[in-house]
Formats: sequence, C-alpha cells, structure tokens
Amino acid sequence: MSRIIYYFSGTGNSLVVARDIAEKINGQCISIPSVIHQESIKTEADMIGIVFPMYHHGVLLMIKTFINKMDNLDKKYIFGVCTYGGSPGICLKYLERIIKSHDGKLAAGFAVQMPYNYIFPSFVLKDFFNSFVLREISTEKQQKMFDYWKQKLEKICEYVQARKEGELETKAEVIEHLVGSLLRDTLQKSVWLKVAGFKGKTNLPFQESIQLMDHGFRCDNKCNGCGICSKICPVQNIKMFDGRPVWQHHCQCFACLQWCPKEAIQFGSRTAQGKRYHHPDVKLSDMMIDRG
Ligand SMILES: Cc1cc2nc3c(=O)[nH]c(=O)nc-3n(C[C@H](O)[C@H](O)[C@H](O)COP(=O)(O)O)c2cc1C
Ligand code: SF4
Ligand code: SF4
Repeated sequence: MSRIIYYFSGTGNSLVVARDIAEKINGQCISIPSVIHQESIKTEADMIGIVFPMYHHGVLLMIKTFINKMDNLDKKYIFGVCTYGGSPGICLKYLERIIKSHDGKLAAGFAVQMPYNYIFPSFVLKDFFNSFVLREISTEKQQKMFDYWKQKLEKICEYVQARKEGELETKAEVIEHLVGSLLRDTLQKSVWLKVAGFKGKTNLPFQESIQLMDHGFRCDNKCNGCGICSKICPVQNIKMFDGRPVWQHHCQCFACLQWCPKEAIQFGSRTAQGKRYHHPDVKLSDMMIDRG
C-alpha cells in the first residue's frame, strides 16, 4: 500500500505540513507544480493527501487543475489539509465538492493555522485601496503555531492511518456561504482587483480573476537581475526581460515577493516597509521546481 502527499506551497507552510505527514505515515511527498504539466496524473498510491494553502477563502486554481487531471480518484482514500492564516472558513468543503465532481470522495479534511503570508488592509478610510500591508506576527506567536502543528500532526496521522472518515474542519459556515454566494464574484472581486491596480474589466469568476492580481507587482531598484523570482514561480508567471521580472497575468501565490533575496519586489504602495516571510525550516532550494 503506497501513500503520496501532493502539495502546493508558496512560502513553505504547506511544504512543512506535507513533509511532516509524509515522514510520519511513510509516504512520498510530491510537489504539484512539478507534475501539473502532465496531461493526466496517474498514481498507484491507494492513499492520497492533498496539502495546500487557502487563498481568498477558497481553493486555489492550481489545486482545481490538479484534481481535474487526476486519474482513478474513485479508488483512493483521499484526505486534504489546508493551511490558513486567519480562518479556514469552508475551504475544505469546496475541496470536497471539487473531488466529488471527479468521482472521488474526500474522506477527511484538516485545517492548520500557520503564519499569514499575504497582505492585509490597514482599515484607514482615506486611500483605503493603497492601505494594504504585509501582515506580520511576533516570533512567539509564530512559534506557538508551529508547536500546535506538531500536536495536530499526531492526530491527523493517527486518523488517516486508521482510514477513518468524516472529519471536515470548517469555521463560520453560514457567513462563508452567504459571502461566497452574494459577495465573492461582485464586491470582493472588485475590491481585490482595485487593490491590485487592475484597471480593465474581466468576466472571470473571483477565484480565477486572482490571476490578474500581478498587475500590483513591480520590482524596485534593489533588483540585481538574479532571476530567482522567475525560477521559483510555481506557474511560470515571470519572464525575465533585460534582467528584470515581467509578470504574465496568470498569478497565484506571493512567493516571488516573499523570496526575492533583495526584497526588491513590491505590491501596491506599502510593502517596501514590511518584513518578508517564509517558514524558517524551508530553504530557497526546497522551493525550486523540478519539472522533469
Ligand atoms: C493570495 C493569498 C490569499 C490568501 N487568502 C487567505 C484567506 O482567505 N484566509 C486565510 O486565513 N489565509 C489566507 N492566506 C494566507 C495563507 O493561506 C497562509 O499563510 C498559508 O499558510 C500559506 O501557505 P504556504 O506557505 O504553503 O504558501 C492567503 C495567502 C495568499 C498568498
Ligand atoms: S529575485 Fe528579486 S533581485 Fe532577483 S531578479 Fe527577481 S526581483 Fe530581481
Ligand atoms: S508571479 Fe509571484 S505571486 Fe504570481 S504565481 Fe508567480 S511566484 Fe506566485
């Protein structure tokens, strides 16, 4: 019986979670960006874990594409783990729905709180759309999250090794359903695209329109042209022109901003002052994608 943990990670939180689970249940860890180019993703494993960060209260596009490409989902024990910064919402319900629409069954879904790697509004009324800053948390709070993860790891591994079913960790279901159906593709979409400085119009639903958020990225004069941003981008969204990154508008994560060794990548007007984040146990070399 083999076990595979597929993972996506922008700043290492989900990578650590995937790695720890794989080690504990004697499974193999595979990065989703390294297999996503395949026409169909086949595996002999009878147990599959899918580990990913929650983005904008939902499941990021790469995970949807990955599940679309999976073969034989109906014959597997599947569990999901989403890492999140603030609240898990109903992200795992969305995952359950996506897997079900491909004839699979999500046996269990767990949510793990980790440091937030995104921007956050400062809630100032004046110039609200330019008020977004990188969210920072204290080292103590961060360590508490990592310690809590170690405890939760035991629970998850025990649960999935016994092939139990039914656990699905969610929060504020009613509100999430309401916001999801009433505001996500309208108000939330227009606010985020405005924050990202996208001036055009798009009919894409909210989760897909996030690809356009890279209108908000630029690199400043600290850039030395090393090309690391382009190499670590999980969706090959950065091309280098004249030694500078140029974003191609199918964006997902924030990894480039967080990993640029010169802190030269900025989003909006206020990230130059903020601290960058990546999980302390993850190195830049762990983030490089081997596309075979
Ligand atoms: C584009 C983006 C959107 C995010 N949206 C949410 C969100 O809606 N709710 C939340 O709790 N955390 C959100 N986060 C925070 C991440 O889910 C969290 O920090 C996660 O652990 C990052 O995992 P990673 O290091 O594996 O990329 C978001 C992060 C990014 C980059
Ligand atoms: S990683 Fe940073 S310094 Fe290197 S090319 Fe990209 S923006 Fe420039
Ligand atoms: S361009 Fe940057 S933020 Fe966008 S997908 Fe690539 S690494 Fe992530």
